[in-house]
Amino acid sequence: MSASAQHDRKKVTTHTFRLKKERRETLTMLTAYDYPTALAADRAGIDSLLVGDSLGMVVLGYENTLPVTMEDMLHHCKAVARGAKHPLLIGDMPFMSYQVSVQEAVRNAGRFLQEAGMDAVKLEGGASVLAVVKAIVAAGIPVMGHLGLTPQSVHQLGGWRAQGKTAIAARKLVEDAQLLEEAGCFSVVLEAIPSRLAELISDRLTIPTIGIGAGAGCDGQVLVTHDLLGLFDRFTPKFAKKYADLHAEMARAFAEYMTEVESHRFPGAEHSIDMPDEELRALLETLEVDRYTSKQVDK
Ligand code: KIV
Repeated sequence: MSASAQHDRKKVTTHTFRLKKERRETLTMLTAYDYPTALAADRAGIDSLLVGDSLGMVVLGYENTLPVTMEDMLHHCKAVARGAKHPLLIGDMPFMSYQVSVQEAVRNAGRFLQEAGMDAVKLEGGASVLAVVKAIVAAGIPVMGHLGLTPQSVHQLGGWRAQGKTAIAARKLVEDAQLLEEAGCFSVVLEAIPSRLAELISDRLTIPTIGIGAGAGCDGQVLVTHDLLGLFDRFTPKFAKKYADLHAEMARAFAEYMTEVESHRFPGAEHSIDMPDEELRALLETLEVDRYTSKQVDK
């Protein structure tokens, strides 16, 4: 996106989400966890950034998202908010921040907006989280739902597996999506479900669906940025497309740096700070250096 287009760009809001669905314009969303990524995504013109609790895996190195805390999330949300001014910013509510009580959920959701510069929050689940969604929405905080493969329930789901593949499971997801819309969600993420099911849900809802591993029939798409950039080395989900291989590029750059340092090719003169001869001479005089060292300066 050019500098002038960037300057004219309006802030994306939940209203923009609704309008884009009405106009059949596809929404673009990525995850971000830090300032430089947020800045680059904003400059590219991405509609929305999700500070996902996937940060536990792709940034903090945990096995799953369960250990991520509110403090982890707020820390990374603040960095993203400093980098991205135009995209709609969504903070992911971590495991146990909204499951204990409705009151605690509202208080934690509020922290994303009040302390960390987010515009909205996301939480996982269908019928079981309706009271929480309603209370957070009633507090004036936009909520994005998340159905299908919900990583915070990975143990209950029996692993990282696609959801909604039988008629019964699919029907439950259709009902859950409708309940989330009725409860006031402005959008819902559909993760790892059959494309035809995602399309059916998207057609039935007036709020936009954002798909990840849910096919092209959703109203928008999201990817985990570390998967897209090839920055996460452990695995790439089948549904993620690698647009770059930055892990390999990092390894190449680090190896080149090591070689140049070890062979004294870095730092060269262009990366070094010069000192005027007379200042160095004065320094050497004050240090009463021997004639040999002074000669070095006169060269
Ligand atoms: O945490 C996350 O990054 C997410 C996306 C996969 C939607 O929830």
